[in-house]
Amino acid sequence: MNKLKSVIILLLLPLIFSEIAKADEGMWIPMLIGKNYDQMKKQGFKLTPEDLYNINKASIKDAIVSLGGGFCTGEVVSNKGLVFTNHHCGYEAISANSTPQNDILDNGFYAKSYQEEKPISGLFVQFLVRMEDVTPQVTAALKGVTDAERGQKLEDINNKLIADATNGTGYEGSVKDFFDGNQYFLYLYETYNDVRLVGAPPQSIGKFGGDTDNWEWPRHTGDFSIFRIYSGKDGKPAAYSADNVPLVPKKFLPVSIKGVKNGDFAMVYGYPGRTDRFLTSNGVKLATEETNPVIVKLRDIRLKAWKEEMNKSVDTRLKLSSEYAEIANYWKYFIGQTEQLKGLGIYAQKQQQEAEFTKWAADKPAYAGLMDSYKQLYAAYEPYAIHRTFVDEGLHAPNFIYNTLVTFNLLRALDAQKDDAKAADEIKKELKEQTDSYLNTYNEPSDKKAFAQIMATYYTDIPKDQRPQFIEDIVSKYQSATVEEAFMKFANELWSTSSIITPDKFKAFIENPSLEVLSKDPAYLYAKQVSPRAYARNVFGTKISDFEVQKEKLDHIYLQALLEKNKGKLIYPDANSTMRISYGNVQDYASKDGVKYNIQTNLDEVLKKYKPGDSEFDLPASLITAYKNKQFGQYSENGTVPVCFITNDDITGGNSGSPVINGNGELIGLAFDGNWEAMSGDIAFDKKYKRTICVDVRYVLWCIDILGHADNLISELDIHKN
Ligand code: ARG
Repeated sequence: MNKLKSVIILLLLPLIFSEIAKADEGMWIPMLIGKNYDQMKKQGFKLTPEDLYNINKASIKDAIVSLGGGFCTGEVVSNKGLVFTNHHCGYEAISANSTPQNDILDNGFYAKSYQEEKPISGLFVQFLVRMEDVTPQVTAALKGVTDAERGQKLEDINNKLIADATNGTGYEGSVKDFFDGNQYFLYLYETYNDVRLVGAPPQSIGKFGGDTDNWEWPRHTGDFSIFRIYSGKDGKPAAYSADNVPLVPKKFLPVSIKGVKNGDFAMVYGYPGRTDRFLTSNGVKLATEETNPVIVKLRDIRLKAWKEEMNKSVDTRLKLSSEYAEIANYWKYFIGQTEQLKGLGIYAQKQQQEAEFTKWAADKPAYAGLMDSYKQLYAAYEPYAIHRTFVDEGLHAPNFIYNTLVTFNLLRALDAQKDDAKAADEIKKELKEQTDSYLNTYNEPSDKKAFAQIMATYYTDIPKDQRPQFIEDIVSKYQSATVEEAFMKFANELWSTSSIITPDKFKAFIENPSLEVLSKDPAYLYAKQVSPRAYARNVFGTKISDFEVQKEKLDHIYLQALLEKNKGKLIYPDANSTMRISYGNVQDYASKDGVKYNIQTNLDEVLKKYKPGDSEFDLPASLITAYKNKQFGQYSENGTVPVCFITNDDITGGNSGSPVINGNGELIGLAFDGNWEAMSGDIAFDKKYKRTICVDVRYVLWCIDILGHADNLISELDIHKN
């Protein structure tokens, strides 16, 4: 062996070892993060577990909020309650405050004073006060109960635990199950309801690249927006009032503009929504071969119908763009998930794991037949699986259906709570929110068109013997050359006879609501038949609910077995909208085609993608001027401004807006997406390809400072230059 070679090998050795030692996969429970501490230290973490989670003094957890019940995450970045999150998380608030006359979605907006901040009704943030393992109490309460009693008993013990813990505190509580009912944690939250929009870049920055670049790296999106939490004068949560004051938080994150390099420690602290990492091969097969293609097909119909209308007027575009973006986001997600489940051979991987499991379980009677039971269960369900997807993604998709069913339930609840003024107020508030959201996204031509096309697809695609009678009746009553036309005729009649579909009539109805009137309305009568419970009774008998109940049982046993099998090893539970920490490193990768990607993108590349007038790749004039004049302020690196970077942290939907934090506890970016090569990540984490896409905090500050001239906001931050 020559000298050079051995030097190279010596140099490589630590690398090889650190590869093995590296975490990256895993969404860890903050309270238990001490178990990961050694590994975190090895990867470059400089603080202590108590700096991350502590219930006796301020810790980083106190700077993290869940937005609106968990759809996104935000982080407090000033001692005046300023919060950073993603642009796509603020999208609804931003677009709802946009009109053709004052179009902050397209033009951007930065409040230059507290007075200019915009209250967002319905938006709230939650701080985690503390969490507690309540597995012993819950397990004790469930001991020996029958299947039939179980649901009620679980609800009772959860309610008792929550009532005991929240009593007199004003906190909200929830009990969540982990590892499919093998562990339970109680969470206490402090909820702030006065949250105001402070700023956002023009969407040509905040959504740069649009759906074309969505879920892909390399990326050039300035995916951030800014909010502020307000409290009563006493610092406690308070309903919106002009007298409220900016929240003085327990903790806020300093911002580092020092920059990132390959291999740096990076962690993401936030609220991942849902993963399905323990899904069996049966579920993978069902998704790739049956259900995912249906989801994509149905979303495609809605997107095309909406886009056509959105192209006709600015008003319609502003009105529909938030919901459009949401549908489009998961339309592309399911395309990618299918492609990568196949491309990465996840089915075979899972089968191999299951074979190994079965070998381990052979001498354990409780687990030995488990994989066979799964197989049988899925075989019985498979003929109905597509139909079920058609219900969720098709029959329930038209906004009038959802609005009708929710309105009915709320009015009924209101009726039941007549004598409880406080409860009635709560319900009225929900009713108002539902009404607004219906009216805000109403668009007759696209709603009708999507409805008729979805129903026609459904009619032709589901097995004939599963068609419910009321659907057959519609098709024969409105007989036409095509099924789509028949449903269009039906829609036209529904729209003209119902008093709750068109905005004018619905507004009049809701001013003077009556359950009696609603229950006779043709739209309600139709919606009722597709409501989940009535529909299942009509078509499936108990096929779907049986599947769910049985699967839940098998999952519980499977996870119990896996916990036993992995005793003493670090194992993390699936995401369930509770606070988690994922840690890893800034890390480059090579795509499946062997193309090597840098860890970072920059402003030069943004300009290279620029397409004037394009709906996805346009840029604001201010950005182009600042670029030409090299106005990079303190945010430049190598003569340009860094835009996005990647880490190997483990995130999913709900994590959007989460802080990306370096080894010193400083904010270096905001997590906002995943990459195409690893779109199967919610079902199986692929170490080689899975990356978290983050907007570099230097790009965020450059936009606020140099393009937005919002010195007021920049001066609130604690910016670390070294
Ligand atoms: N893929 C991102 C996420 O799920 C959302 C990006 C929103 N942008 C869009 N083009 N729809 O967090």
